[in-house]
Amino acid sequence: MRFDIITVLPKLLDSPFAHSILQRAQNKGLCEIHVHNLRDYAVNKQKSVDDYPYGGGSGMVMQIAPFAACIDQLISERNYDEIIYMTPDGETLNQEIANGLSSGENFIILCGHYKGIDQRIRDIYVTREISIGDYVLSGGELPAAILVDAIVRVIPGVLSDETSALSDSFQDGLLDAPIYTRPVDWNGHKVPDILLSGHEAKITAWRHEQQLIRTKQRRPDLLND
Ligand code: ADE
Repeated sequence: MRFDIITVLPKLLDSPFAHSILQRAQNKGLCEIHVHNLRDYAVNKQKSVDDYPYGGGSGMVMQIAPFAACIDQLISERNYDEIIYMTPDGETLNQEIANGLSSGENFIILCGHYKGIDQRIRDIYVTREISIGDYVLSGGELPAAILVDAIVRVIPGVLSDETSALSDSFQDGLLDAPIYTRPVDWNGHKVPDILLSGHEAKITAWRHEQQLIRTKQRRPDLLND
């Protein structure tokens, strides 16, 4: 799988992809992440990529030309499954969306800044608009990193224990059961006896029951779905 991320702040994306599971996925050759500096595609000497909004109003708008130049270059080199724009007014990311995208091959992700991007970029190029939640961040870089992480961790072979992505919260529409490790007793706070019983079927049943209880308490909307 290949991601091409277009941003004015490429450095912001150095760290999220350089550690842990995302780094291992790249080292194993299961995914490539290419970050493109939008300013390299600016058309004027000042290397500006934004301008004042037509019709007035506060904030700057990212211009179409630099995005178009970068996207045109990429789509001349390979086919892309989706050209995704990270935006608070997109569809809200969830596990189902991440699972669905994980069967794709190539993705372009556009990161907006300032007031947003010229609508014509969305009309002409963007095939999917994704939000990571109902709040506004300063730019699309952190949302892009979150999207890539959510997709990459469910690519088969990325996690060493393949079943562990399947047991994540949300994979079966439920939140995860509580988990414990040593010590058995921390200042009188004990690990539930059932987890020490060695009785696999009973442990599975207990975990499922805990998932239902937790989901009902914290996210009843998931049960209604
Ligand atoms: N850019 C700014 N806020 C965002 C959000 N909540 N989701 C996706 N992209 C964004």
